Amino acid sequence: MHLQIIARQIMAPKSLILFTLLTLSLSFPAITAVKYYVTNVAANTPGGIRFTNEIGIPYTKQIMGTINNFIWSIIFQENNPSDRSPIDSVIVYIVEFDGAEAIRWGANLINVSSIYLKGYEGDLKWEFTSLMYHEMTHCFQWDGEGHAPVGLVEGVADYTILKAGYAPEGFAKPGQGERWDQGYDFTARFLEYCDGIIPGFVAKLNKKMRFDYDVKYFEDLTGKPVDQLWKEYKAKYVHEH
Ligand SMILES: *[C@@H]1O[C@H](CO)[C@@H](O)[C@H](O)[C@H]1NC(C)=O
Ligand SMILES: [Zn+2]
Repeated sequence: MHLQIIARQIMAPKSLILFTLLTLSLSFPAITAVKYYVTNVAANTPGGIRFTNEIGIPYTKQIMGTINNFIWSIIFQENNPSDRSPIDSVIVYIVEFDGAEAIRWGANLINVSSIYLKGYEGDLKWEFTSLMYHEMTHCFQWDGEGHAPVGLVEGVADYTILKAGYAPEGFAKPGQGERWDQGYDFTARFLEYCDGIIPGFVAKLNKKMRFDYDVKYFEDLTGKPVDQLWKEYKAKYVHEH
């Protein structure tokens, strides 16, 4: 009798949680709507074989789901599906090409270089995951309809890497860089600083860049023009390098 009561007390919150989960998944159907496709076009080349042996298509699809949710919930804080980039799939090709580790083309296509994978020294699965955080951010970020500076767009993609804990060795330290829009890890560190002043800064900036871009967005969000922010950022770390 006593046990029964305890059981019931335990059951009640559980069913409440289940009900809440059901309600949440019903009100956000888009959470599972994106499809992931991976094709190893270079399967017979050394890099393509290394992809199969050390990474594989199942792992790639799994990590794409994880990264997609991380970008929506943590980086861009787009809990309302109508805020999100409306792509319904992300397509990855492992393909033989030179000159870059990976490229994003079209809205939702990512080509990863099998030549890069072949030559990488170290934990290839980890490196590939880091790369996917960067490239998938490009699929989901807003860039002011192409008006945002390339350095900022690349900085946001590397900011995702940083927040995900996938910053590779050699990633810029806080305070490094010559310009706020230098790009990649330098701009990522600056965005991290802005996020420290205004929580959710990157998510808010991304949201503002949906249809257009203006350097004034930095001032709108922080009360300071970007050049002043950059000066204060550099001054904060001046004794550490
Ligand atoms: C990416 O790879 C696919 C598959 O091989 C190819 O059709 C496409 O042209 C490549 N895209 C670019 C931009 O190179
Ligand atoms: Zn990029």
